[in-house]
Amino acid sequence: MKTLESLGDLRGKRVIVRADLNVPLDGETITDDGRIRAALPTLTRLVDAGARVVVVSHLGRPKGAPEDRYSLRPVVARLGELLGQEVAFANDTVGESAREVVSALEDGRVAVLENLRFNAGETAKDESERTAFARELAELGDAFVSDGFGVVHRKQASVYELAQLLPAAAGELVGREVEALRKVTDTPERPFVVILGGSKVSDKLGVIDTLLTKADRILIGGGMAFTFLKAKGWEIGTSLLDGDQLETVRGYIAQAESAGVELVLPVDAVVAPAFAADSPATTVAADAMPVDQMGLDIGPESAKLFAEKIADAATVFWNGPMGVFEFEAFAGGTRAVAEALAEAPGYTVVGGGDSAAAVRTLGFEESKFSHISTGGGASLELIEGKALPGITILEEDDK
Ligand code: 3PG
Ligand code: MG
Repeated sequence: MKTLESLGDLRGKRVIVRADLNVPLDGETITDDGRIRAALPTLTRLVDAGARVVVVSHLGRPKGAPEDRYSLRPVVARLGELLGQEVAFANDTVGESAREVVSALEDGRVAVLENLRFNAGETAKDESERTAFARELAELGDAFVSDGFGVVHRKQASVYELAQLLPAAAGELVGREVEALRKVTDTPERPFVVILGGSKVSDKLGVIDTLLTKADRILIGGGMAFTFLKAKGWEIGTSLLDGDQLETVRGYIAQAESAGVELVLPVDAVVAPAFAADSPATTVAADAMPVDQMGLDIGPESAKLFAEKIADAATVFWNGPMGVFEFEAFAGGTRAVAEALAEAPGYTVVGGGDSAAAVRTLGFEESKFSHISTGGGASLELIEGKALPGITILEEDDK
């Protein structure tokens, strides 16, 4: 992969940095600034090199037109605080404001352009539409740095096409992420334990498939665990269910058994009548779930069991919360798993937007983990062994 060095002397050059500043917002308040902080090493390096830094990013999933609630403006203020310099902001991406802001940039200064996804070309299915938008972006820079790890699995204009139009390199974050995640999949030290959570089984099918031949243990929690319990023929009440995946999941259970992979499911669950912070929570055994309640977290016995399965691991990869950790009554499972990882002596990787945010909002020190990924889908696809468009394009040297 091409590194920043390959771009040569950047003093006075306009460098477009594709970052992933897609942070969770509550109104205009950033609830977890992890992705902004993760962008700093590359940005600081470019600032120190005297480059004129043009940061581009998406936020949320607007539909190709401006929408106030998806503006990057709140992110710009925070970025300025962290960088210790005033950061300029253009209220469009490739329009008049962007051109003005970029041409006014001085060496070592930083500007952010408005949400890329306010332009239909960014995410267009049609390659020529993406290329047309990428060409407009390319006019604003002399070089391109790809550092939005959370989005490298997307074949989008600012990730893929733009990398072909300017001298391009991977930023520090992308470099570090790829190194950490490849360490997990290519040559994991054993026992290699994987913990998967989150709501949808269908998001995790590829990774389960791959890991069934690689991991020693797979622990399943979160909303997706109920599809596994249902596949065993158990009552899951009104819990989340991926009905289309029941057959596939039964296949996984059988495959794990024949491959000697330990598949660990919750033995109890915290249930409540409704999906709400104040819905009265009770703990029940996993094979005794009431028909009129939904599971919103793994129970304390499961948390203890999972912690035991993590304690002697040499390599741990965790993606997806164990429950609805945003509500205190259903945060116990996620907290317990985070604690177990923090104490595990092995190489521990937290993958995924949600699990990374969970670790930080529950108050864990980042230094307790070997690596906290900024990418959800991207880290899963890397683990699956898929070719990611935003990475492969930086590996081609015919440019
Ligand atoms: C994410 O939050 O997963 C990344 O920022 C990518 O966003 P996307 O899933 O909307 O492409
Ligand atoms: Mg996503």
